[in-house]
Amino acid sequence: MEKENFNRRDFIKSSIKTLTVGGLALSALDLKKLFAEAESKSPGGITKVINLSDYPDLGSVGGYVTIGKVIVIRKSESNFLALSLKCTHKKCDVEYNGSSFECPCHGSTYDGNGKVTNGPSTKNLKSYKTTFNSEENTLTINM
Ligand code: FES
Repeated sequence: MEKENFNRRDFIKSSIKTLTVGGLALSALDLKKLFAEAESKSPGGITKVINLSDYPDLGSVGGYVTIGKVIVIRKSESNFLALSLKCTHKKCDVEYNGSSFECPCHGSTYDGNGKVTNGPSTKNLKSYKTTFNSEENTLTINM
């Protein structure tokens, strides 16, 4: 009797673990599929395609969004700028104030195009090529 209860309890515990692990694996697969639709890797790097209708802040000139460690700024109706938010001094995350960047770690500053305006950084923020497709309202970023 005692052994039968123990086995039943073990079976329930094992079933719960199996369902949990299976659910997590399925979630990971779903997320991987989701990201695969918007991002692809090539020998040249990662190409990310975003639909601008998903980013209303990019709907007007001067608008910007951050996507991971990259900021995308709409410079004109058809021109976008994508910059790394990693400071080129010691890799802290820089902050954007709507017109320029500042690093909170050691005070480097960059203009609105990512060009160094004050050290200790000596290199501009890394920029990524962008391609705007006005018909599809998409932006391709080559990272
Ligand atoms: S890490 Fe940005 S100024 Fe040093």
